Amino acid sequence: YTREEVARHRTPGDRVWVTHGTEVFDVTDFVELHPGGPEKLLLAAGGALEPFWALYAVHSQPHVLELLREYKVGELSPEEAAPSPAATEDPFAGDPPRHPALRVNSLKPFNAEPPPELLTQSFLTPNELFFTRNHLPVPAVDPASYRLRVEGPGGRALSLSLAELRGRFPKHELTATLQCAGNRRSEMSSVRPVKGLAWDIGAISTARWGGARLRDVLLHAGFGDKAPEGEWHVCFEGLDTDASGTPYGASIPFERAISAEADVLLAYEMNGQELPRDHGFPVRVLVPGVVGARSVKWLRSVAVSPRESPSHWQQNDYKGFCPSVDWDTVDFRTAPAIQELPVQSAITEPRPGAAVPAGELTVKGYAWSGGGREVVRVSGERRGRAAGVRGTAGKSGWDRWEKQRGRGWAWALWELQAPVAAGARLDIVCKAVDRSYNVQPDTVGPIWNLRGVLSNAWHRVTVTVT
Ligand code: MTE
Repeated sequence: YTREEVARHRTPGDRVWVTHGTEVFDVTDFVELHPGGPEKLLLAAGGALEPFWALYAVHSQPHVLELLREYKVGELSPEEAAPSPAATEDPFAGDPPRHPALRVNSLKPFNAEPPPELLTQSFLTPNELFFTRNHLPVPAVDPASYRLRVEGPGGRALSLSLAELRGRFPKHELTATLQCAGNRRSEMSSVRPVKGLAWDIGAISTARWGGARLRDVLLHAGFGDKAPEGEWHVCFEGLDTDASGTPYGASIPFERAISAEADVLLAYEMNGQELPRDHGFPVRVLVPGVVGARSVKWLRSVAVSPRESPSHWQQNDYKGFCPSVDWDTVDFRTAPAIQELPVQSAITEPRPGAAVPAGELTVKGYAWSGGGREVVRVSGERRGRAAGVRGTAGKSGWDRWEKQRGRGWAWALWELQAPVAAGARLDIVCKAVDRSYNVQPDTVGPIWNLRGVLSNAWHRVTVTVT
């Protein structure tokens, strides 16, 4: 068979086919028997099993392969092995390979989110499934010749190699959630069209990050603990550039960059591995509690400046407006750049429109807030029954002391069990409260904005009970 033929078999109606190595299997009759649930197996339908098995180690046991063999229907044609050579004139031709489970919102530049049912499968999002938000092609960076420039008035200009960044500054590790300003934009555009990628609820992910503190690097470069008089900023530029050679850029206030409490990192590790190319190899900024747009990837320069980054993405994007502002009247100079994000939560399971069996229903989701304001409560609406927030401690969870000191950088995964009766149409709602008692708005209408950012209304999922 060709891969194209295999790809036509993605649903039980068309039969569910998968490949492993060069072998082809029809696993339709196994879908309902899959211990991880039918919907998880269906994520691999029409393609290779290996990328999924690599994520979930339970599959690397001999009896799993034996079981699979029972479903074998053929082999891939020999010429199927080699992928087609990339077109050289395509600026995206050098982009890295990606995990097939990702839901792609745009291929070039690459923007994708993990499927909701995998998003809350683990507290730390596996690197391969971490949402990706690229504005430009992924730059190819040679770690041996990489240099990070640090500069600004009154300080010494520094140029650091990767080895110097790793060797001169203590490694600091923390668990933090990163969320794009456009997360849940598709709910906003269902009220009225907005400009932007149609993100569902997955433009958010969590990782254990490791790197040098930006504070340590700034102090080393000669910038004092206190900013000079007036407003100061720390501007970042990436190595990714548009056709005119202009790089991606963004900035954060100097106070946050120099603060020992704010934990801003120049990260070179993600979940114990070097940063993947899509997430900023070899070095990215990681600004916990702040909109993803400021966590500049493929970092080439850090500059202390009396002005915010002049970048398009700081000046003319990633800002919020009221619902009456449209593209004829918008003036980006009148709104502040988004930094700390508002409180957010969403239901990852069940999915909208699902038919769920009567009995005990499990509802799962995430909750998070910006600025280190950890979530203190997640609840539903109709019965006002609070969901039990699933324990987030543990080996790879957040540290208790980080949480207590208003440094709740990571999300809470929550879970609720409720009895449901057959025949009912069920509207499930979730809403979170953070440590400052900030709440989510109940509907999208009053927070609608032309760019579809900051979409954090109560999340609603309607299912039927069979
Ligand atoms: N940095 C560079 N250099 N180029 C980019 O396109 N995208 C930003 C930010 N940093 C971006 C960047 C945006 S909008 C977000 S939400 C985060 O990276 C996403 O990080 P991730 O792709 O690792 O999830």
